[in-house]
Amino acid sequence: MDPAVLRQKYAELFPESHEPICVAAPGRVNLLGEHTDYNDGFVFPMAIDPHILFVGGLNGTNKVRMFSLDFNEMSEFDLDRIDYSKDHGWSNYIRGVADQLIKAGYSLKGMDMVLQGDIPQGGGLSSSAALEVGAALLMSELNGLNADRVELVKLSQKAENEFVGVNCGIMDQFASMMGELDHALFLDCRTLEYELVRTGFEDMGYSVVVIHSGVKRGLVDSEYNIRRSQCEEAVQLLRRELPNIKALRDVGVEHLDLVNALPGDLAKRARHVVTENQRVLEGIKALEKGDVEFFGRLLNASHESLKSDYEVSCKELDILVAICQDTPGVVGSRMTGAGFGGSTVTIIKKGHVEQLRSRVMDEYPAKTGITPQFFVFTASAGARVLSE
Ligand code: GLA
Repeated sequence: MDPAVLRQKYAELFPESHEPICVAAPGRVNLLGEHTDYNDGFVFPMAIDPHILFVGGLNGTNKVRMFSLDFNEMSEFDLDRIDYSKDHGWSNYIRGVADQLIKAGYSLKGMDMVLQGDIPQGGGLSSSAALEVGAALLMSELNGLNADRVELVKLSQKAENEFVGVNCGIMDQFASMMGELDHALFLDCRTLEYELVRTGFEDMGYSVVVIHSGVKRGLVDSEYNIRRSQCEEAVQLLRRELPNIKALRDVGVEHLDLVNALPGDLAKRARHVVTENQRVLEGIKALEKGDVEFFGRLLNASHESLKSDYEVSCKELDILVAICQDTPGVVGSRMTGAGFGGSTVTIIKKGHVEQLRSRVMDEYPAKTGITPQFFVFTASAGARVLSE
């Protein structure tokens, strides 16, 4: 992707509009802390190199016109009456952000933009969050809103919850906006306090491999909402014994006996969240000590918990994780993101990456009939204005 190509398209499509600026917003991969964000818990994602580029400028009208180079489609809406688009699904993330900014009291002027991205869609790598966060930053810059970055994160999440209708937590938007080069983000989803952590993977000779299973996350929305309400139900029941808890975040591993006594699936769901929060805390400590091997074991344990207790994995993700965990040099591997398809994340000694790539490229298609996509990612910067 080349900003110059987007600029040229902008000039062709919108010859009357103002000189544009260019904004980039990255995808993310979550290293540890899955399905904990909406339980007020801990997550540990990093922003990645694939991103969405926007070239946009004011147009002196009351309309927003958006051209997607990926879909080769133009979509537009009126700032006075922001409607949902059935035909151009991608545009709803941008519409939703404009809607939230206006509801938060900001005034927006008409804008034109061209956008293009290389984050695999349906890969669980947060192409939607990148779209929202990039649009939020672009709108803030063009309209001189001086909005705080964390406020833009919150509005982006709200856009997805209320306008797009997906009840996601805050992790993806936070990672896309606040990520930093060479750092992962240790985020407390209750207080939104965060710490940028140098993982040290590169320096210590490890790589982060992400493999897209090629399975688009089919069941994800309905099952995601079911998991959320099961967690809320678990909190209600646990309050009988632990009256002060507000979310599963407040339940520690010392209370696992109470958790295990919950009825049916609720015990399993709550157990995942409680142990996953603990894994994040232990993972951060392990990295502080440079213990990547232990961090890797936490990834393996996380996968087991997501598969058996939270039940959000699928056959293909399990096959990928099994291949990875069985390959020399791999210290840990798990599914990442919401589940039911999407990607896995694997920490591996650098010298073994090619061996893993060829095993995955041979064995996974043989077992599933699907060609996977194999990536090696380093931690990238969060959303930014490019001064090319
Ligand atoms: C999706 C959601 C996030 C988070 C993850 C699971 O990516 O958008 O908020 O809940 O699933 O950890």
